Amino acid sequence: MKIIHFSDIHLWDGVLEWRDLWYPKRLLGYVNLSLRRKFRFPPEYARRVTARILEQEADLVVFSGDMTTASLKNEFKAAAALFAPLHDKWGERFFVLPGNHDRYTPVTVGDLRYERTFPYGAMPGADVRVRVLDVDDEWRVIGFDCSRPYMLRSNGHLDEALLRQLDDALGDARLAGRSVILTGHFPYATPSAHKESWQHKLIGEEQLARLVARHQPPVYLHGHKHVRWLFRPDGTPATVCVNSGSAGLDAPAKEKRAGFITLTLDPDHGLTACLAQALSSDGAAWETCDLSIIQCTDAAYTERAR
Ligand SMILES: [Fe+2]
Ligand SMILES: [Fe+2]
Repeated sequence: MKIIHFSDIHLWDGVLEWRDLWYPKRLLGYVNLSLRRKFRFPPEYARRVTARILEQEADLVVFSGDMTTASLKNEFKAAAALFAPLHDKWGERFFVLPGNHDRYTPVTVGDLRYERTFPYGAMPGADVRVRVLDVDDEWRVIGFDCSRPYMLRSNGHLDEALLRQLDDALGDARLAGRSVILTGHFPYATPSAHKESWQHKLIGEEQLARLVARHQPPVYLHGHKHVRWLFRPDGTPATVCVNSGSAGLDAPAKEKRAGFITLTLDPDHGLTACLAQALSSDGAAWETCDLSIIQCTDAAYTERAR
């Protein structure tokens, strides 16, 4: 099973919409975009990454959220245009999830902007936030949506209902003898060099870690933190957490610069190969990145996850 994983492409638009200008994050986000983000996410990088992915062959392509910056109509429109060739090539095997930036305000969530733009990435129902796809006779992708709008923060929330749905989906896969590729937007654990702040973390990450420890999917694919890594936390030793990093960011460090990851999975041996590709510092060429698996040595995390 060959998988391409990318995330956090963060397309942006400089024109504000009037409908939810009252929402605190809207104006703060606009200031952040004007001063910082528009320089850090060159639209050309997003185009180059998706064009490069389109040249590859894979059984499955996963996008794990944050296609937009502020859930603006023009941002979703641009994302739909950018992703259309990927959907044309891979059909339902182009597996798309929303991130917290695609659920930016209550108005944009109520408008179903994500769902209307990406019907193929929508959850099965308003109250069902787990989506399942059988890729072949062996592998099943289980994706979940825990992105919610917050007035100022960028958290996700894994509530009890979603946790139960996820538990059921993972249990069903086990009964069916399926190997699972689990994917969501937020990490449930981060390497000690990349600690997540309280206003960005997944609320309920400990419960997700416990669920993963019980069901033991070989990989958990996520984004949100814009750094590329492979990480095997102590609390979930059977699972490699794969953060594909951002597919749109310009940054000095190669592991943060726009790119994507190609993974090879074997039902008996889990993750057998991984290749990361990122744009060079001048954006002119492609470089491969070495991603050795980071073992967790954070005792505090291990304690929480158990
Ligand atoms: Fe992001
Ligand atoms: Fe995010």
